[in-house]
Parts: sequence; C-alpha cells; structure tokens
Amino acid sequence: MNATGSMGLAVAVRPCCRLIAAQILPRCPHRHGRRIAALPFFLRCSRGRRHFSRCPCALPPRRSAAAWVRAAVAPARDGAAVSDPRRLSTSVGPVPRPGGDKDFGRIFVQGLAAVKPLVIDSVEQPPAVGGEKTKKEAVEEEDRSEVAKGRLQSESEKEAWRLLKNAVVTYCGSPVGTLAAIDPAVEPLNYDQVFIRDFVPSALAFLLKGEMEIVRNFLLHTLHLQSWEKTVDCYSPGQGLMPASFKVRSVPQGSNGEVEEFLDPDFGESAIGRVAPVDSGLWWIILLRAYGKISGDYALQERIDVQTGIKLILNLCLSDGFDMFPTLLVTDGSCMIDRRMGIHGHPLEIQALFYCALRCSREMIVANDGSKNVLRAINNRLSALSFHIREYYWADMKKVNEIYRYKTEEYSQDAINKFNIYPEQIPGWLVDWIPEKGGYFIGNLQPAHMDFRFFSLGNLWAIISSLATPKQAEGILDLIEDKWDELVGNMPLKICYPALENEEWRITTGSDPKNTPWSYHNGGSWPTLLWQFTLACIKMGRPESARKAIAIAENHLSNDRWPEYYDTPTGRFIGKQSRLYQTWTIAGFLASKLLLENPELASILTFEEDLELLEGCACSLAKSPRIKCSRRAAKSHIFV
Ligand code: GLC
Repeated sequence: MNATGSMGLAVAVRPCCRLIAAQILPRCPHRHGRRIAALPFFLRCSRGRRHFSRCPCALPPRRSAAAWVRAAVAPARDGAAVSDPRRLSTSVGPVPRPGGDKDFGRIFVQGLAAVKPLVIDSVEQPPAVGGEKTKKEAVEEEDRSEVAKGRLQSESEKEAWRLLKNAVVTYCGSPVGTLAAIDPAVEPLNYDQVFIRDFVPSALAFLLKGEMEIVRNFLLHTLHLQSWEKTVDCYSPGQGLMPASFKVRSVPQGSNGEVEEFLDPDFGESAIGRVAPVDSGLWWIILLRAYGKISGDYALQERIDVQTGIKLILNLCLSDGFDMFPTLLVTDGSCMIDRRMGIHGHPLEIQALFYCALRCSREMIVANDGSKNVLRAINNRLSALSFHIREYYWADMKKVNEIYRYKTEEYSQDAINKFNIYPEQIPGWLVDWIPEKGGYFIGNLQPAHMDFRFFSLGNLWAIISSLATPKQAEGILDLIEDKWDELVGNMPLKICYPALENEEWRITTGSDPKNTPWSYHNGGSWPTLLWQFTLACIKMGRPESARKAIAIAENHLSNDRWPEYYDTPTGRFIGKQSRLYQTWTIAGFLASKLLLENPELASILTFEEDLELLEGCACSLAKSPRIKCSRRAAKSHIFV
C-alpha cells in the first residue's frame, strides 16, 4: 500500500479513534507544536535532512546495568490504586450479566470521557556538541565500555551487537524498532519492516543491556498505531488490533530538503495470505510489563493512553462469540507461523501468549471503578483457561493410553471423551515417540480433533507463564532433553515436530512450496526460539540445558550469517529460502547469552504458579451443577 492510497483512508477513522488520537498522540517537535492528530491517518513527523531530532517522549535517565538489575527485582509500585493480582484473583464469580463482557465498551467510553488532555513531555534536543555520532563510532564506544566493564564477549557476540545496532530503525531521529532482516542478497518484501513479534527479542537484548529508550519508543509508537482503522477490501478488522509490522516511510516536503516521516502499519492487509496478527497485541502487553519491571518506569503503563491500549486488546480477546471454550479461536497463520499450517482453531501458541498477556494485564491495569469488570473478566478467564489447557491439552504416556481406549459418541454432561476424539487419530509417530517420562501440550484441540504435533513456542511459554503446572513444566523440559536430537539436533529449536509429509502436507498446507517437509514452518529449526528456551530453562532451574543449546547455536550462527531458519529433520542445512542476517536470530542469541549471565532478570518475563487462580477454577466447577470435570481434574491435575 502506498502513502497516498493510505492517506485517502483518513476519512474512515472512527470518531472514537479520533478522540483517542486527539488525546494521546505526541506532539511533533518540528511542527511548531501542532497536534499530530490533526494530520491525516499516519503518525508522522517531518525533519530536515541534516537535522536529527529526539522523539517527543520523556525517558527515564540512563542507568548502569547494576542499577537496572536492582530495579528489575524491586517490587512493583505501591499505592492502592494499582491492582493487586493476589487480592483480585479471588474474584472468580461470573461476570455480571446483562451486557456481559460487552460492558467493556462502556469501560472504554467511561475511560475516554475521563481522559484529560494529555501532554506528552518532550525531550530536550541533545546538545549539538561534537555533532552526530556515526554508527561506527557508537559501536566502537560500546566495545570500549564492554572492555572497561571487564566482560569478555565472544567474536560472535560482538558481531551480533554490531548487526543488531545496524538493524535499528529511527523515526524522527529516535530509535523505534529493528528491521526484520537485512539480507542484501534478496528482495526485502516486508522484511524491511519492524515486526512486533520479531522486535521482542531485540527489545529484551536492549533491556538487559540497560538500553531502555528504544523499547519505550516502540511501545508508545505501536500503541498509537493500534487505534487506526485499516481495511481489508471493504472490511475493517476490530479496533484494538495491533499491526503485524510497520514501516517508517519518508516523503519529501517542498523544495527545502525537508522530509516528512510517517509510520505505516500493516494489519495483515498487505501480508501474504492476509493473515491477522493475533499475537501482536499479546506480545505488546508482555513487553510492556517487562519494560516496567526492568526500568522501574511504571508510570508508562499507568498512563491513560497505555491503559486504554491494554483494554482495547483485551476487549478483542475477551468479547463474547460463538465459542464454547476459554481458548481463543483464531484463523490459520495468526502468529509466528503466519502461513497455512493447519493451526486454525485453538492453537497452543496463541493460548500460551494469551494466558501470559492476561497475567501481565492483571498486574498492570490500574484498579478503579472503570476497570473492575475487566479485572474480574481477566481472573475468570485465567482460571478457566489454565484448567482447560492443563487438563485437555496435556499429553503423556498415561494420557495417550487413555485416549487409545476412549469410548466415543458419549452424549452427556459426564462424558469422559468430551471432545469425541476417535482413538484412530493418534498418529503412528506418537506411539513410539511419547517418552515414559515427561510430556507436552498438544498443538490444538477442537471437536473431534487433536493436533498431536509438538509446537515449541507454545510449550515454552506455557512454562514461562506458569500456564503449565510445575510438574507439567518439568515434564516438557524432560521431553525436550529426551528428544534432544529431534528437537535441537544441529540447531535449536524445531518450530514444530514432526513435519507434515506427502498427502497430509498437500491437504494441510495447500501444497505450500515454502513449507515443504522439514523446512520453514513445517518442522524447520528456528534459532530465535533459543531465548524462549533459555527463559524456560532458567525458570525451571535447568540453565545447563540452555547453555548446551546456546553452544550449538554459537558454533554455527555467525559462520552461517545468522539465518532465519534451518532445514532437514536435524536442522543441518540453512533453510532453502531462509533470509540471512535475520534480526530475531541475532537478538535471540544475544538475549539468551545475557539471560544466562543475569538469570535473576528472567523474572521480567516469567510468572509463578498462582494458587488463588486455581482455587477459583475449582470453586467454579464445584458451584456449577452442570459442569463436571473429567478425571477429577480440578483436584488432581491442576494442583500438582
Ligand atoms: C516470517 C515468520 C514470521 C516473522 C516474519 C518476519 O513471516 O513466519 O513469524 O514475523 O517472517 O521475520
């Protein structure tokens, strides 16, 4: 979509969006204080070619790494206005009807009515002493400071930092994200954009290094993109959707060398297959919490525009639909796997990120009259979701054997085989593969359908967020250890296992030539999964496994020029169509290293088991005469 075409859509902005925009958008320092909201459609800012400016967002002062570490482990803010997750988690009663969750609409309207004109503090322009630092000078300075701190970086790390910094994108002179890849050999397509999900490991690497500014800018600018209305043909996706990616575009202004920059988001309307990025908003919430915990800048998450942003995302996720399950119902390709791969329905990856984002929101939403409904709904959903996943997605030797002996066509409230799974669905590969010790969450569950494939990201986030019970979390890591050659092999980590082959590949992927067996999303190996594996290992007190995986990656990544993914069952070859110099490969490697060095910082992303949520779940089951949980799960399974 080009700039002109998109600008034409300005008239389609909903009045509500206008209101939000008018209240929250920052002033562009080069526009004589004119409100950006008065400009059409895009967030934009003009600047002279040689005139670099700072983003108009106030940032916390730069601190030493040690100070950041202290901040990260410091307790969250005090003050009664902020929600206390432990206290709130006891509220497990049903969301009041009538109106049900649609009351969120009212929450937002109330919230907006109360919005006071927001003045975004502008940051003084940096003094022009010594002129602009070139990227090279900045990197050299960085190297010197690392040496001064006595940290010994490997050559791969040094190269990775150089590449990561080179991928940084600026808007109005301030860093706002990182490009997905800078591979000079291939046409960029949309890899020259900042992807929300891809930026998370970059953000983590920067945060762990004490560089907060880029993350803060990213959070605010993507938030401002959220409310814009874009359309896919004649249809507009729901308000609150976060874009999959955005691009900083510039257009020349007049004849005096001025250029105007604007952020152009892609909500899936240009993406291959027109996939909706359901995970973007969830990642945004997760990153917002991590930023607050490590920087101590809780004021950011308490801002009205940020609170509204969180609620808009939740509104999309928690609104009533036709669904029967607490899991989110999505189309194929709505997450990291953004192509047809048979993951429509209730894929684990989305559920794990959803659970994590709900736990983050519960911590961040300011408790007041306007937020009590949403907080209650979050608690209810968390309880139901964890029960559902722990009970019905879990597969281990015992459970598979149980499924093998399932009776079918059970019409009753007491059915054991609730989803009418035909035992014939147990795939041949699983019979030999399922280990005696350990287990995992299956990829998807729907009526008469279990997708038994192992998906790494969902399983890792189930550990990180405590969606899995402690025992299940141990079990998942046991399984990865046991299946190391298949899941890690020559490059951590398989995106999913096993690959779809032959007829199954043809039918499920639509004969996708990029997703051939053991390539790309179909059983390819993705080094960016390493940081998530590292987090899970640290959380479970098994850093050695992460160290082993990082060493394997470090052996290859730099030599192979930081590929996006690897092919073959053991990940031996650089992916057929893999980009080189893929930023989330680079950043994921750096973040993994930094996490291992500072394991206490893993807590900015992890969650511990919350027993009150579980009690809530058991209470709901006990209260409802119509709901019976199979295998006495509420007592046996969820508390282990
Ligand atoms: C591919 C991946 C997607 C990623 C994008 C940019 O489309 O499937 O997860 O965000 O590339 O790297």
